[in-house]
Amino acid sequence: MAEKKNNNILRNFNPSETRGKIITCKAAVVYGPEEAFKIEEVEVHPPQKMEVRIKILFTSICHSDVDAWKAQPESRRAFYPRIFGHEASGIVESVGEGVNDVREGDYVVPIFQAECGECKLCTCEKTNTCESVSYTNTVMLSDGKSRFYTTDAKPIFHFLNTSTFSEYTVVHSACVVKLPSVADDTRILKRLTLLSCGVTTGVGAAWNVANVHSGSTVAIFGLGSVGLAVAEGARARGASKIIGIDINPHKFIKAQAMGVTEFINPKDEEKPVYEKIREMSEGGVHYSFECSGNSDVLRDAFLSSHEGWGLTVIVGIHLTPKTLPIHPMELFYGRRIVGSMFGGFKGKSQLPHFAQQCLQGVVKLDDFITHELPFHDINEAFQLLIAGKSLRCILHL
Ligand code: APR
Ligand code: ZN
Ligand code: ZN
Repeated sequence: MAEKKNNNILRNFNPSETRGKIITCKAAVVYGPEEAFKIEEVEVHPPQKMEVRIKILFTSICHSDVDAWKAQPESRRAFYPRIFGHEASGIVESVGEGVNDVREGDYVVPIFQAECGECKLCTCEKTNTCESVSYTNTVMLSDGKSRFYTTDAKPIFHFLNTSTFSEYTVVHSACVVKLPSVADDTRILKRLTLLSCGVTTGVGAAWNVANVHSGSTVAIFGLGSVGLAVAEGARARGASKIIGIDINPHKFIKAQAMGVTEFINPKDEEKPVYEKIREMSEGGVHYSFECSGNSDVLRDAFLSSHEGWGLTVIVGIHLTPKTLPIHPMELFYGRRIVGSMFGGFKGKSQLPHFAQQCLQGVVKLDDFITHELPFHDINEAFQLLIAGKSLRCILHL
């Protein structure tokens, strides 16, 4: 799609006309599990205390949107109609009472993983989670009400604190990151959309959670955007060997261009994948990452790391009731396994610097954008991801 100038995109953006009022705009609403998105008019209510209303300019689709759209796990079946989407960028239209750190006209990315900055967890350096604004069961905002209504006044459920498949959304201010001022250039803002989830999750897993070191060996299970973001993070840290594992061989072409040095398709292997990885890495890799959301690979990921110091990072979201396929005694050999959320980044305080690093080229964002479509083609964009044909498809609102 042709690049648009911001002033073109913002032609109809006049916060003084909408501030404090209900905005009627287009959103992609889903009425049941795996039902097609309907682009229709919705009413977006003004932001309440500590909330921000954002005009979304770009949004993209992450695997977690697909999982939620399929209503996995089952307990989510009740929450329709719903507005999904959690990777986006946009401009602040208005703010509610008490919001001082962003204001109208600021360029921002919404983040599902909040940082209120004040709770017990936010003030602890050891974690990036927040206990004040949780990302689980985020079907309504903190007063238990929706800010989205159908034109016949039925509430629409929120999703992951963000609900970005809408021309306007309302989020808690703990879920808004102010971008560097250069984000007023549409081409830059579009790239920074990726920081809302996938790229941050993957690069952060390599940098903050594993702390990949120069010359180390890495294995990545699942070469979607998240896995390739781990590869990009590992490459930036100077890893000497990055082994990519995927059951879709089409993923290898793109991955090769993005720093993955060798490939394994488990379907082509007779022996267990972890044995093959050990052979390729002098007994096992320093770091392995599970980025497929498929719990069947966890045992291979764990055993592919080197005895004594290997570290496995679980990055994918596991929605099945299956528990870890590891015997407690196996941990006695010195391998470790940890989970990570949002790449260990404290979003509000650390993403502005991460955005600068991306813009300086430490992390290359462009390769993740494989498709761009107008917002009304969201159903097509979903199918591209499900079919494994896209990494990130940026939807232009
Ligand atoms: N072995 C290896 N690779 C697998 C396997 C498997 N058994 N099963 C699936 N994969 C691969 C897919 O072929 C795909 O290339 O995992 C990749 C997942 O990529 P995407 O669907 O593009 O997902 P992505 O957006 O990268 O997210 C990955 O992180 O954020 C979470 O919920 C998300 O769990 C998901 C994971
Ligand atoms: Zn907090
Ligand atoms: Zn995501």
